[in-house]
Amino acid sequence: MKNIEIKTKVHSCQLEEMSAEDRELIQIAKDQTKNSYCPYSKFHVGAAAKLENGIIIKGANQENAAYPSGLCAERSALFAAGANYPEVPVSTLVIACYTAGRFTEEPGAPCGACRQVMIETEHRYGKPMKVVLYGEKEIFVFDRASDLMPVGFFSESLTH
Ligand code: THU
Repeated sequence: MKNIEIKTKVHSCQLEEMSAEDRELIQIAKDQTKNSYCPYSKFHVGAAAKLENGIIIKGANQENAAYPSGLCAERSALFAAGANYPEVPVSTLVIACYTAGRFTEEPGAPCGACRQVMIETEHRYGKPMKVVLYGEKEIFVFDRASDLMPVGFFSESLTH
């Protein structure tokens, strides 16, 4: 047996350290938590995706009485981006989470399904998609979505 150690890189940042462009995107993701429809979990997630052409696509989690029919904020933004601007790569994706009257202290952690969609988005355009996970205490910045999901499942995985 051979053991393989997988390393990934994440920048832990404070808001002041971030570019004006990223700070604007963070504010949009935070504002988007107000558009979350989450009567069941009461966990409000906002997302903002900046496309290469500068357009910003917003998302928010949308729940449903039939629980699995709901959708996470990140996927609502990425699917809207793909549906409206299929030719344009996504440069940056930000998420922010709000619950119990405040934004979470820790950076919001995307679920596995959202990570899978993130790596496909990145792979589809062949360009790194920066992922910013907002937290009140610290902000995690991943240079590329695949850093959030090593050993990912891609289109090539279907044929190998
Ligand atoms: N949620 C997101 O929108 N994004 C994530 O990455 C994690 C979870 C939503 C789904 C559900 O509406 C609520 O948060 C609680 O799981």
